[in-house]
Amino acid sequence: MSILNSFIKNDYKNPYILVCSSKAHMIYAKDILEKNNIFNELIPTPKGFGEICTTAIKFEKNNKEKIEELIKEKEIDYKGIYSLNKKYKYNLASILNMNISSDMKKIVSKVENNEDITKKDIVYLLKIKQEEEYKALIKMADIIRKECVGDRIELRAAIEFSNYCKKNCNYCGLRRDNKQFRYRMTEKEILKEVEKLYRIGIKTVILQSGEDFYYTTDMLLNIIKVIKEKYKMGITLSIGERRKEEYKLFSDAGVNNYLLKIETYSKRLFDYIHPDDDLDIRIQHTNWIKESGMRVGSGGMIGLPSQSVEEIADVILFQKDFGVHMIGFGPFLPAKGTPYENCKRSSLRLNLKVVAITRIICQNVFIPATTAIASLEKKGQTLALEAGANTIMLISTPKALREDYEIYSNKNMVDLDFAIESIIDSKRKLPKYLNYDYIESLGCKIGNNLK
Ligand code: 5AD
Ligand code: SF4
Repeated sequence: MSILNSFIKNDYKNPYILVCSSKAHMIYAKDILEKNNIFNELIPTPKGFGEICTTAIKFEKNNKEKIEELIKEKEIDYKGIYSLNKKYKYNLASILNMNISSDMKKIVSKVENNEDITKKDIVYLLKIKQEEEYKALIKMADIIRKECVGDRIELRAAIEFSNYCKKNCNYCGLRRDNKQFRYRMTEKEILKEVEKLYRIGIKTVILQSGEDFYYTTDMLLNIIKVIKEKYKMGITLSIGERRKEEYKLFSDAGVNNYLLKIETYSKRLFDYIHPDDDLDIRIQHTNWIKESGMRVGSGGMIGLPSQSVEEIADVILFQKDFGVHMIGFGPFLPAKGTPYENCKRSSLRLNLKVVAITRIICQNVFIPATTAIASLEKKGQTLALEAGANTIMLISTPKALREDYEIYSNKNMVDLDFAIESIIDSKRKLPKYLNYDYIESLGCKIGNNLK
């Protein structure tokens, strides 16, 4: 039995969700349910039941009365308890009218009724060759994206503060055996970059690094504290596997999201690409992150050496089954100096299919148009936005260091100008929260239709 089965169950007879009024009440409620031995799972609140990127608690109907009692007794603040059988429906008539096969129409009808699509369906979609069916897939994802997350792009900014890494992942340019210049930013240097982002109006900063335990819990908590108190910004941590207690401390200090990619849900492939990691341990960490109250960011690489279409279907399904809030899938790109430096890069079309399928299945979640897809092809980011993505991550590492954060070769240093171009090309809108006067004073041209 996979470790995943101890955290999730797929055979609900009559699933219900509890939507709490705040993160604190959600964590409290979860704790109470655990203490009362009521099986429950945290999932992104599904479309139709609450706001994007919030978390709901899923449970079986036969526990409903008991849960209602506990809510009253413990004074848990909540918005509602809902049956998941009353599903939100989409209107996909325009897709059904396209010239597509009857197998494809069956899948579209399932999506329209919000029924679960199977691994076999996903494999079918991944293998699409016919142009009209490919267009249907992308269009379907675009419709769902629009209904779930609207037209505005969520802009986040990453500070890659250390390129030291104690691990040796076969695909990654930062692996410890790769002899290269290594750097670590100080707290002061990191906060200086945060200040710049704050002025632009960015609301979420991503602190990213290799697995580098030079940064102790206290050092990280100090940085988090300043960002929270002085700038009141959202924080995403992307620093690899840490100790279980640290996740809770980060969450309590106000970290909103933690990005730890599963990369692949195939044990065979996971072992093949990771000399010092274990899939079950990665899942265990992912669950610790989730239970700490932070939102989980996951995803993985597509087109890895030897990866099969079935393995791609499995890693997409994992995101849904596990209840991931932010799902970043990017193409595998060969990195110089690594065991895979001569392997074939992934294809754009396969990656766009993955983005579309992820949106169709996971719906009410954040999906980035990744830096990797923009590195694969310049127009990759625009195309990903058109295929269901809604988030862009800017690279905000100081210019003198960013070339040294070379996870893969020929990385596209997606900056505000590049992101704006992608947003214009995909006919989408910038977030409302940016400080446009300031950005324009820096020389970025932003048309009114983007604001
Ligand atoms: N190609 C594409 N993505 C990569 N990553 C690391 N190496 C590569 C590569 N060669 C991604 C992985 C990892 C993150 C640090 O960057 O998804 O989680
Ligand atoms: Fe380190 Fe992450 Fe690269 Fe692995 S993928 S070598 S953990 S930076």
